[in-house]
Amino acid sequence: MKKILVTGGAGFIGSHVVRLFAKKYPDYKIVNLDALTYAGNLENLNDVESLSNYSFVKGDITDETFIDQLFAKEHFDAVIHLAAESHVDRSIMDPLSFVKTNILGTAVLLNAARKYWQDMNGKLFYHVSTDEVYGSLGESGFFTETTPYDPHSPYSASKASSDHLVKAYFDTYGLPVVISNCSNNYGSHQFPEKLLPLMINNIVHSKPLPVYGKGDNVRDWLWVEDHARAIDVIFHKGKLGETYNIGGFNEWKNLDIVHLLCKIMDKKLNRAEGESAKLITFVKDRAGHDKRYAIDATKLNKELGWTPSLQFEEGLDKTIDWYLANGEWIENVTSGAYKDYYKDQYVSR
Ligand code: NAD
Ligand code: DAU
Repeated sequence: MKKILVTGGAGFIGSHVVRLFAKKYPDYKIVNLDALTYAGNLENLNDVESLSNYSFVKGDITDETFIDQLFAKEHFDAVIHLAAESHVDRSIMDPLSFVKTNILGTAVLLNAARKYWQDMNGKLFYHVSTDEVYGSLGESGFFTETTPYDPHSPYSASKASSDHLVKAYFDTYGLPVVISNCSNNYGSHQFPEKLLPLMINNIVHSKPLPVYGKGDNVRDWLWVEDHARAIDVIFHKGKLGETYNIGGFNEWKNLDIVHLLCKIMDKKLNRAEGESAKLITFVKDRAGHDKRYAIDATKLNKELGWTPSLQFEEGLDKTIDWYLANGEWIENVTSGAYKDYYKDQYVSR
């Protein structure tokens, strides 16, 4: 029986990882540690909370005393570390909270693992990271596992630092680690500060659709449940000390993806063709906006046999349907502090 600490399990990707592991592996004990920041939401785990192999602990990964006590008490066999500040625009407004959570928080967890795993045999510290650590691509080429780090935003710089700390604990203390760097995720339960759920929510409410710059930046989109499946494969079969890139070979210009959303949603909302696209509004670009991300996931495919399960159009359709069917969820997460965030970020942009 394995006892696994999942950090950030009440967030978007974390809740999908907790769901997959708790349901697929009834013999594992899953402890979800989350501070429940604006991005953490226990409603994301309604279908998991009654499972006997799942438990939730509220706490902050930057609180060293608390984390040490948790490790001393629980005797974890593995950590899947997802807790983070995750939104690039927020990192531009408030970089220090990203430094604190993403760098210090990761260091606190690594240090607890080092202290409490006297016997490192069979243990694993899995760090869930991002392709943004590699910087930005031109018109062609892909990020591979050997692409040099070149982060540009406070968010990506903090994730790059945390990756380096994870590698340093492997090299220095022999801590058994693995890292994965994934491209842009989409799917159910994503907080509507990120491009797709923000646009879906605004289309529903016929609000302006704020496209940064000319909308010609490119992102590589992966269905969140395929990311969770990749984490499962890497957790069980990945080689210690290695990095695996995760992506769907699925590049889209932002403007094209917003047009596609408008087209699909006009049909679903019984609107005239072209009606939602009239809401598209070009706004001031993001500072330091990375032009293009594209992941080469060949290593993960060749060495561990993972491939994405869904075509993008199918995943997008499922995602839109989920948001349309879960109006209460979106209402709950947008009714409070989100209004101030939205005003600061968009109103005079
Ligand atoms: P999210 O913002 O939806 O969730 C983050 C979770 O971490 C929330 O539940 C939040 O409450 C929790 N958290 C934040 N600070 C904490 C702290 N100090 N202590 C404990 N918990 C804390 O993020 P996400 O999009 O689900 O991303 C999860 C991880 O995956 C992050 O590490 C992110 O860098 C990485 N990632 C995200 C994407 C993406 O497209 N969203 C892609 C690649 C990698
Ligand atoms: O690549 C992986 C990363 O993807 C993750 O590490 C991050 O946690 C995640 O937030 C995401 O970062 P991005 O900055 O790429 O995602 P975001 O959804 O914020 O933006 C996607 C693109 O859309 C980006 O080029 C900026 C643009 N955009 C975004 C918003 C919120 C807009 O044009 N308008 C918007 O309102």
